[in-house]
Amino acid sequence: MTENSRQVICLDGPSGVGKGTICLAVAEHLGWHILDSGSLYRITALQFSRKFPEREVSTVDESQLVDIACNLSVSYLQENHHLVILLDGENVTGIIRNEKIGAIASQIATIPLVRDALLARQRAFLQAPGLVADGRDMGTVVFPHSVLKIYLTASPEERAQRRYKQLKDKGIGVSLSSLVEALRQRDDRDMNRKTAPLKPASDAIVIDTTRLTIEQVTDEVMSWVLQRVSIA
Ligand code: DC
Repeated sequence: MTENSRQVICLDGPSGVGKGTICLAVAEHLGWHILDSGSLYRITALQFSRKFPEREVSTVDESQLVDIACNLSVSYLQENHHLVILLDGENVTGIIRNEKIGAIASQIATIPLVRDALLARQRAFLQAPGLVADGRDMGTVVFPHSVLKIYLTASPEERAQRRYKQLKDKGIGVSLSSLVEALRQRDDRDMNRKTAPLKPASDAIVIDTTRLTIEQVTDEVMSWVLQRVSIA
């Protein structure tokens, strides 16, 4: 373990808990890099759905999924408090967030060889002065020696409410019950898969955000950051 390998803050937790927003706020505060690891699974899912339209993940040979994961030409830009994601130069920031791609990503993420294919790429995000990494297995698998591990949680109903409000603000109509059901299915798959299941690392700080605003969560995370991280 090198000193540098510790300069990572891990933010893990289930879908819709606000990790992305908090990750960006912490990274901007510290001037550190960001890893949105879910986006790598989502981009793999997008490429899969383009290459194999109308096919189920389970009907495709794993080696073809690994091939997609190994050959992603992806780059990230941090712009105006947002992360912009480019795939072969195409801005895919919006399209990878849709529910269908999220569900495919969660299925693809159960395949150990796909996870292996994305591991080195995730670790390569660690560059000086440091990295804030958001995902499901940042603290348990990808950066086990990180200086700070936070695990964010909230009830499925609360996470669905937040998502419902976001979609409503964008003029997109969905039923709240269908969002709760989709989140439950995703949690079930992410938490119960054999490889790198979603769970807090044994040394993670667990924060239940159910009754907290995003500002309150950011403040709590930042107070841990200031205790643990020596900023040059
Ligand atoms: O964080 P997200 O919703 O963008 O992630 C999409 C899916 O990718 C998620 O359902 C499971 C998978 N994922 C994973 O298995 N490991 C990670 N570190 C990040 C995401």
